[in-house]
Formats: sequence, structure tokens, C-alpha cells
Amino acid sequence: MTAVKLILDKKREGHALGSAEIRQFIEGFTRGEIPDYQMSALAMAICCRGMTVRETADLTDAMMRSGEVLEWQEAVSAPTADKHSTGGVGDKLSLVIQPLAAACGLAVPSLTGRGLGITGGTADKLETIPGYNASLSLDDFRRVVSEVGVSMTVQTEEITPADKKLYALRDVTGTVASIPLITASILSKKLAEGAQTLVFDVKCGKGAFMKTREEAQFLAQSLVSGAKAAGRKASALVTLMDAPLGLAVGNACEVEEALTLLSPNGVFAALEPIRELCIELAAEMVSLSLDKPIDEARELCRAKLLDGSALEKFKQMVVAQGGDLDAFSRVLSRPVFKYRIQAMRSGYVSAIDAERTGRVALALGAGREKTTDRIDPLAGVRLSVSVGDKVSVGSPLATLEKSTDPDGLEKAAAEMFKAFVISQEKPQDIALVLERID
Ligand code: URA
Repeated sequence: MTAVKLILDKKREGHALGSAEIRQFIEGFTRGEIPDYQMSALAMAICCRGMTVRETADLTDAMMRSGEVLEWQEAVSAPTADKHSTGGVGDKLSLVIQPLAAACGLAVPSLTGRGLGITGGTADKLETIPGYNASLSLDDFRRVVSEVGVSMTVQTEEITPADKKLYALRDVTGTVASIPLITASILSKKLAEGAQTLVFDVKCGKGAFMKTREEAQFLAQSLVSGAKAAGRKASALVTLMDAPLGLAVGNACEVEEALTLLSPNGVFAALEPIRELCIELAAEMVSLSLDKPIDEARELCRAKLLDGSALEKFKQMVVAQGGDLDAFSRVLSRPVFKYRIQAMRSGYVSAIDAERTGRVALALGAGREKTTDRIDPLAGVRLSVSVGDKVSVGSPLATLEKSTDPDGLEKAAAEMFKAFVISQEKPQDIALVLERID
């Protein structure tokens, strides 16, 4: 097709593509009329030449319209909102934030993902609850959001098929690392979900997709301006992801930790920073959706955690999606193979490498190298310490767990040991929220 070649020439030479050109290209690719090699060529040209804000918005819009775009006006009267995280190690925040926002009066339709590589997926975590259906049809998704106020399920085939096809190509053609392509990929899915308010948690650091603060700021800005260009309310927090979030890294153990975070009885000191981060992100959703000052939104979120309403919403969602939390308690008490690692010197824990921890959890069976791998719901790492804690020789640092067999535990333990840096000076406290972008 000559038009396709002209578009490729234009982008290769660094010119901005017109809205119609972008739309036609994505439509042709989605229908299978534009072959993978031409789409890959365009992705590479975009990687090398970039896109303007307007082109990125057009690409996002075209990808959003490649499938079904949900609307909520008829199903729910509450303002709709969702939070998206770019993914981190031990990131179970959605399990807390989405029900918390619903407890504050928002409707939260949350299409979520499965884990690949070192970042876990919310759907995999929820599926460790026996009976929980994380693959709802769109009709059931609508029903749970309207009845309970929150639903978390994986994105169906009907949503943004162009992104699914394009992401598979980007993965094998070296074209993942492009801010316009990442923006269009993330945002097209979130816009198709139909929520009126979008809050982004853009992680930055060793265990994150964006390694530097500058890259994270750039992506956050791009996501927020793209969401606003599409008529949504939006903000982003750039948050630190050098050490795992919380103490649990895995699947069932992260659901257990999320239940602790949701518990009205208060949490132990090690979990306070991530509970505060949950409140901060939920407060962004509430403040934007209900036009409340952020301080008031924070207080509302804190109150809904402390009076048990957020936990109640989580339980209602689990029941509505077929899950059984009593059976989940029995899952947690199943026997597992364990390997505990201890400090070999005394001092302060000054770093816990999130990326290495993620790799260890993956090797134990908590994640997937490829989409067809099966996960071990009980595999993972339970940290005994957080950054800043004082330890002496023999203090427990972490326990590695898996349920299938003991193979690989010792090797994984040797790797995990290297994730800890113990130094003589107490490290400075570092805030998890680096900045807010709106
Ligand atoms: N996550 C996505 O959904 N898409 C990207 O391109 C990168 C991260």
C-alpha cells in the first residue's frame, strides 16, 4: 500500500504524522491489512524520531478505538475513577487503593494485568483466593462495579486489540522503550476502561520500568497530558521503587499483606510507609473526582481505612467475583518449603535491591518468564526487615518459600542474600512519593 510507505517515509524523516494517517495506520494494522513488518517499522521510526504531544494523543485515541470503549453513565451514578501503576516489586497497592476509593463513594472499574518478568500482576494475586474469577465477561464486570462499586478483572480481548498486537511486536523488535509508545499503550487501555478520573503511580528506581527520575517524570507528564487531552481528570505521583514495597513479594503472601493493610486494627511500623502511599494515591482519586481539597480527601481515606469500610468493600468484591476468603486462609496454612537467610554482620539495612528480589521471587515460581508459564501461588519472598532496620549477626533477613518442591531454594537464597546492603551508618529516611504531576 503506497500510503503506508509514505507514512513510514514521513516518520523516518522526523516529520509529524497527521491525525488521519495515524488512525488509518492503526485501523489497517488491527484489521490485519497492514502486516507486522510495516507496523514494526513505524514503531522503530517512532522510537528514533519521537512524536509530538498531538501525535501521541492521536495514537492513543486510535488504539483506544481499536476495540470496545466502556461507558458507565447508565450503570453507575457515582463518579468513576481508577489508578494505574507502572509496576513494581511487591506492588500490591491496587488491592488496597481500589476498594478504599470505592469506600469513599467512587465507582472503580479496574482492568488489571497478569505478571510478566519481575513485576507481579494484580490478577494473579487475586486468583490465589479460591474461586475468585479474574476473567469476568464485560457484562459481569459492569454488574460487579454497579453492585459493589469496585471490580478488578483482566482486560478482555475486546479492549484495545491494537495494543495487544503492537505490544507483542515491540517486545521482539527493541521498540518498548519509547515514551509516546508507552503512553499510547498504557493510556489507550485506561481510556477504554471508561473511568473519568485517572491517577498514575509512575514508579522509578531499581525495581521499576523507569530507572531514572527524569524518565519517570517524562512518562508521568505524558500520561497526565494525554489523559487530559482525552477529557479526563488526571494526576500522577512519581514514587520510589528501589526497595520492594512492604514485606511480602509473591502472590498469596501479597494478598495477605493487603488484608493487613486494609485492616482497621492498624498495621505494624514496617507497613506504615506503604499504607501512607495507598492513602496518598486514593486521596488523589477522591480529590479529583469529588472536587475536594487534597487534605480533606486524605482524611476521608484514612477514616474509611480505620472504620473497616475499605476492607468491607474488598470482601464484597471478592464474594461478587466468586472468591472465598475462608478458603484463602486455608491456602495460607498449606505447607511450603522454606529457606531462611540471616545477617552475617551487624549494622543497618541500608538497601534491599528490588530488582534482585523480583528476580528471586520469579525464580521461585511467583512469576512468569513467558505468558504461558504457571505460577506457584505460595512462592515468594517474605522480608523480615525494611531499609533502616538495625540487625545483628544471625538476625533473620528474609524467608524464601515455594510449595512445589525444594529445588532451587538454596541457589535463590544465595542470590537474595546479595540484595541486602548492611552498613554501619543508619540510612536517611527517604519519602516514597518523589513528586506530584498534574
Ligand atoms: N505497560 C504497558 O501496558 N505498555 C507499555 O508499553 C509499557 C508498560
